[in-house]
Parts: sequence; structure tokens; C-alpha cells
Amino acid sequence: MVSTLSNKTKYYLDLEEKYGAHNYHPLPVVLQKGEGVYVWDVDGKQYYDFLSGYSAVNQGHCHPKIIAAFMMQAQQLTLTSRAFYNDALGEYEQFITNYFGYDKVLPMNTGVEAVETAIKLCRRWGYTVKGIPENKATIIVCGENFHGRTSTVISFSTDPSSRDRFGPYMPGFTVIPYNDLPALEKALQDPNAAGFLVEPIQGEAGVVVPDEGYLSRAKQYCEAANVLFIADEIQTGLCRTGNMLACDYENVQPDILILGKALSGGTLPVSAVLANDPIMLTIKPGEHGSTYGGNPIACRVAVESLRVLKEEQMAANAQAMGELLRKELQALQSPYISVVRGKGLLNAIVIEHPDKNAAWNLCLTLKDNGLLAKPTHGDKIRFAPPLIINKEQILDCINIIKRSLDTFA
Ligand SMILES: Cc1ncc(COP(=O)(O)O)c(C=O)c1O
Repeated sequence: MVSTLSNKTKYYLDLEEKYGAHNYHPLPVVLQKGEGVYVWDVDGKQYYDFLSGYSAVNQGHCHPKIIAAFMMQAQQLTLTSRAFYNDALGEYEQFITNYFGYDKVLPMNTGVEAVETAIKLCRRWGYTVKGIPENKATIIVCGENFHGRTSTVISFSTDPSSRDRFGPYMPGFTVIPYNDLPALEKALQDPNAAGFLVEPIQGEAGVVVPDEGYLSRAKQYCEAANVLFIADEIQTGLCRTGNMLACDYENVQPDILILGKALSGGTLPVSAVLANDPIMLTIKPGEHGSTYGGNPIACRVAVESLRVLKEEQMAANAQAMGELLRKELQALQSPYISVVRGKGLLNAIVIEHPDKNAAWNLCLTLKDNGLLAKPTHGDKIRFAPPLIINKEQILDCINIIKRSLDTFA
């Protein structure tokens, strides 16, 4: 039985219903506070956060070092725009390029802006370095992708709810099935192909993990065809899958690396595009930008967000806790879970139940029992807690999941 909502909760829900656009379908819980793996609602009830802001809060809610960096910079200087230099950007650029082994970084804000930037950069490289005739560049992408919500990016979405009735669409994208190397080989025969944009694991599609060897072979094929391999690690990166980057599992260094979300530990929109000089320097002064991209708060926060990932060995913890989580989920042997999949702490279960709202209903019961998770694509539920979760907490969560499944009949 799902509990009724408190008056306080209803008050906030009603405000959003009346005054906010209806572009999301949130669970009916109103959060007020977060710390580590926990969040609290307006009535003081505590929950495990098993979504982590769609993997933005990898380091845990309100990580003290990230918040300290934020506060320090917020009292000093918040924005200069890129019309002037500031004393945070250069040090951040040095830090992040050394961290990931690239010549240059281009800072942006939201994830989709970084994807847009990567697309522009890739096309520019296609024209000026590869010699593709003007306006003919194509970018190969995968079916069931999720790269954000701008009109260019939804132009190559295959999800009707992202795409339908938002046209006309941006041309120049070739969609191939995910995890299909022969399809990639064929698409790469296009002499105007400039890039292959791929998620190392498809998060929004329901944590779809490709076959081992897919990424490394895809990179090799791209190299052979003189096509840039562009990894969208906005959701999979920054230790989420048990490695610093999901591409690290196959020793793949993308030609263009896209990061976002946990680059700020969930504090503000910070994204980045990384590439080496022959690619990055094809964009010249005045040709691309963003008022807030590379702002001093973002820079200080990003350095600290990256630093604590290594200091606190979050990749190793994500790997160990992810294995434990999947093992314990399998051990439940629930007739309502048809699949448990994932890598590190990016996981999903697929719900098998005659009621098509079963995944949503299970999330409501999980909420009542103190765990917040959200369905994706109807029957899948993502389990992606902050990477600082420990064994005892994972086992506590398994208990909550078991109790919640037991209410299904
Ligand atoms: C793989 C991937 N790319 C891009 C985005 C878009 O990021 P943002 O919502 O910050 O624009 C997301 C967001 O979920 C994502 O998962």
C-alpha cells in the first residue's frame, strides 16, 4: 500500500503543477536536504538516493570539500565572462587536461551544450583537416541514444517522446544500431563521415552495456576511416562505472571526450569537451562560446570534484559496491525482476509484471520504504547511488528493495 502525501508535500506539488511546465514526471517526494548518500524530504523523512541526480552527485550530496571550494570562490569572484581572463580558469584547464591526458579543454555548462560543442568541433575538423566538402559532414550516432534535449541533438534521437513534433530536424546524422560493429563498418564507408558519437553504456536507454570489445573495435575502425571517435561520458564518466571513464575498460582514448554532470559534484552545471590540438585548434577566437562557460565557481568546483574522486578512491568503491549490489539483486530471485545489469554503480533492473505501471508503482513503494529511484523507458529502474555508499548501506538497500518487491502480488 502506497502512503498518502503530507499536506506539506501536497503544497509543493501543487505549486509546481500550477506554475511549472509539465516537462517532467517526478515521483511525489519533495526534498529539502542532502548529505552523502542520503536526502531528506520536507517532513524530515530520510531516503537513500538511488538516482544521484542522474549521476551528477557521484561524490555524494554536499561533499564538504566541493562545497568549501564553491563557497570560497562565491565570495571572491563569480563571473567574468570570457571577455576577460580570470585566475581560476587557466589552473582548471591545466588540471583537467593533465587529469585526462588531452592538450586542451573547452568548458561549457550543461551536458547537452558540451555535446553540441563536440558536434561543431567534429564538423569543423571534418572540413578543415579531413577535407570534407562544406556542409556535407555527417556524424554517425546510435539508435536509442540519449545526448540531451536541444533541437540538433533530438534530431538524431530515436525516442519519439524526445523527438516528435519538435521538427524540422537538423540533417547530417546517420543512425546505426548500438553495439553493432558491422553497421559501424558500413557507415564508415561514407567519405563525408567526420565522427562517431557514442555512449560507452547507454544510460537513459536503461543501462545497456555493449559487448566487451565493442568500444575498442569501434575506435580502431574509426581510426582506419579517419573519423573521430567521440565518447559521451556525461553519465558514464567520473568513476560511475567503476573506472574513471567507462572507455578505460577497453583502453580507449576518445578523440573527443565529453564530460558533465559529476564534474561539479551536483552543485551547478559544469561540462567540458576535451581534445588534442589538431582538433581543438580548428575553432578560432570568436567562433564558439558561452557566457558562463569556464566561470570561476565552476572551475574551482570542478577541480575539487575531480580531486575527491581520486582521493576517496571512488572508482574502486563503485566497482566493489556495484558487484555486491548486482549479486544481491540476483540473489533475491524475484519473479518480477527479469534482468539485472550494469557496471560499477550504474545499474538497472528490468521489471516483469502484467501491470504496465509496475515499475512506477514499485518506485512509489521504494519511496515509502526509504529509497528513491526512478523508472526509465517504462519497465526499467535505474539503481545508481552516490559512489561513496558502503557495504552496510548497500545491504540495507537490498532489504528495502526486497520488502518492496514482497508487496507485489
Ligand atoms: C549521456 C548523456 N548525454 C547528455 C546528457 C544531457 O545532459 P544535460 O541534461 O546536462 O544537458 C545526459 C543527461 O542525462 C546524458 O545522460
